[in-house]
Amino acid sequence: MEGVTVIDHPLVQHKLTIMRDKETSTASFRRLLREISTLLCYEVTRNLDLTTVEIETPMATIDAPTLEGKKLVFASILRAGNGLLEGMLDLVPAARVAHIGIYRDHETLQPVEYYFKAPENLADRLVIVVDPMLATANSAIAAIEKLKERGARNIRFLCLLAAPEGIERFRAGHPDVPVFTASIDSHLNEKGYIVPGLGDAGDRMYGTK
Ligand code: PRP
Ligand code: URA
Repeated sequence: MEGVTVIDHPLVQHKLTIMRDKETSTASFRRLLREISTLLCYEVTRNLDLTTVEIETPMATIDAPTLEGKKLVFASILRAGNGLLEGMLDLVPAARVAHIGIYRDHETLQPVEYYFKAPENLADRLVIVVDPMLATANSAIAAIEKLKERGARNIRFLCLLAAPEGIERFRAGHPDVPVFTASIDSHLNEKGYIVPGLGDAGDRMYGTK
């Protein structure tokens, strides 16, 4: 599918299977999400541009590779996005962070926005938006609209699970934003949940149900 990368690394798939299991505890779910997010981060940043910097090793002076451009921005869609954020910051500690408070209304499945805080100069930075679940895509589409209003132009979206219906809507709404996911599941059920999915990501992370 154009613009969509499925991260099929065996460690990602193995950890995802444990997370999907309804018997997996809150503590294990949270730990696995943090572990998996470092692996996903590795893949979503795979083709970042490099430049060189002159350094002296104990043996010689060399032009060595270093990341080009301004610091990355990780934009977490609250709450569940924070589960991906932590592991990504383990790998890229200097990244800037945006928090976007959005939940979806359980009846209408429409996004409800309650918070937005992002670094300045979004136009000059790669913004990686993170949320474990892309279901109807209403939340992700709204979050990215906000980021674009604030100037973001170079955006990627990273999730753990996506529904085919959500990917189609997301790609129609933001065709310039590539999607990275560990799995494209079968479908959405009548309540807008991903099947087979893993249930409600926020509730499973924080034990709120
Ligand atoms: C979940 C998930 C996404 C959204 C996906 O959040 O983390 O943000 O649902 O659904 P959508 O693609 O149909 O919009 P939720 O609304 O449950 O909020 P929470 O993270 O605060 O639990
Ligand atoms: N949000 C979740 O947390 N899980 C789903 O399956 C769909 C939306």
